[in-house]
Amino acid sequence: MRVDVLLGLQWGDEGKGKIVDVFTPKYDIIARFQGGPNAGHTLEFNGQKHVLHTIPSGIFHPETKNLIGNGVIIDPYIFEQEIEKLKASGIDPQKNLYISKKAHLILPTHRLLDAVYEQSKGGEKIGSTLKGIGPTYTDKVSRSGLRVGDILCDDFEQKYNQRKEKHIQTAKNYGYDLDTFQIDSKNFDAYEKCWLDALKTLTSMQLVDSELFVNNALKRGETVLAEGAQGTMLDVDFGSYPFVTSSNTIVSGVCSGLGVAPQKIGRVFGVFKAYCTRVGNGPFPTELFDEVGEELRKCGHEFGSTTGRPRRCGWLDLPALKYAIMLNGVTDLIMTKADVMDNFDTIQIGHEYNYGGKRMDYFPYEINDPKLQPVFNSLKGWKTNIGSIQKLEELPQNLMDYVSYIEKQVEVPVSIISVGPDRTQTIFRIE
Ligand code: GDP
Ligand code: IMO
Ligand code: MG
Repeated sequence: MRVDVLLGLQWGDEGKGKIVDVFTPKYDIIARFQGGPNAGHTLEFNGQKHVLHTIPSGIFHPETKNLIGNGVIIDPYIFEQEIEKLKASGIDPQKNLYISKKAHLILPTHRLLDAVYEQSKGGEKIGSTLKGIGPTYTDKVSRSGLRVGDILCDDFEQKYNQRKEKHIQTAKNYGYDLDTFQIDSKNFDAYEKCWLDALKTLTSMQLVDSELFVNNALKRGETVLAEGAQGTMLDVDFGSYPFVTSSNTIVSGVCSGLGVAPQKIGRVFGVFKAYCTRVGNGPFPTELFDEVGEELRKCGHEFGSTTGRPRRCGWLDLPALKYAIMLNGVTDLIMTKADVMDNFDTIQIGHEYNYGGKRMDYFPYEINDPKLQPVFNSLKGWKTNIGSIQKLEELPQNLMDYVSYIEKQVEVPVSIISVGPDRTQTIFRIE
């Protein structure tokens, strides 16, 4: 069997969590392969809304195994809070959640460093979620990180203290005062205590060598879906660097973040919103600063699932979408949130870029240059409330024209149209 992949094609928050939840009954394993609690994946069903940060979005289906792979980074305290919330809603993750012993740990001092580095950037801030993502991946790559399996080793405390002291020294070098530092409204010592206590919850889970877990499952003929976090435009190599996250959010992240070989990758589902959003700083060519952008934010409830920050909103960006499809080898597109534009008379699409008179239809190195401007095409809106539509043939023609326009430009079919946040608001064109 092969590993199918579902990932975001824009700047995150495309609706990945919702679609993974819809897909889960078709898969034996749902596996996260990168990122950490900077992610916020929202699922809605039975009138309830759930937000997941580290735990895969298949967790609400007890018969499906959920795996946190080696490429993910875990904050034990945030993880424990997620577990408690799940338990409160009647889910027992101990039964169907597996965690790689090779996944790295986010230490409280990684969060300290995230804040220190952001503050030191002045006007050039990334707009990080401040969950310690950059510093944790930095330690991983510089070979000084701590992993989940290390918690069980006798010298864990010693190793932890070593890292902590080194990080505090770095923060001091930046002139940072630990006494004034707060994490989630707690002072450092209080947060650290919660973090250390939470290690027990993490080690009480089923800890595995996830690369063997996945490959053995494939050999047995089990089906696996890899769930991406963030989006392609936040990829550390191909996104709008330096305004990116610190992992490979694209399909190659599945190979390194789960230990599966490239030829084992199957279908690649690329999720995109019918418009664009971005939270945090960095280039966003089709961004709207007017009342249309405000309407997208209001109707789309565009506020971050992790930080609550208002998301920047704009029109669909085709050069960026094409680029993301190319990088990921997307086989199927999934369009979400078209319902947010139900009342629009006209809809614009960023068709290509104009860079000092030169037309570009891809996402170039020069993306950060304000000289790069989008060129728009206009399409008619559908002026229909699509949220309650269940059948493909009942979707309005102008919406299907919008879909056809996109398909013609990107040369990949839109297999699913999501018309609302609930599980049931999902229309399949291709199974
Ligand atoms: P993720 O990070 O990609 O999982 O996306 P988020 O959960 O951060 O943000 C997507 C938001 O849009 C969530 O609040 C979802 O409940 C919601 N959502 C997903 N699909 C749709 C859709 O088709 N229409 C509407 N209106 N909301 C959607
Ligand atoms: P999901 O999985 C949207 C953004 C942050 C910031 C940049 C770097 O829910 O789609 P980091 O904390 O990683 O150092 O922040 O990336 N960012 C996201 N934006 N959705 C996400 O995840 C994001 N994860 C990180 O806002 O601009
Ligand atoms: Mg999100």
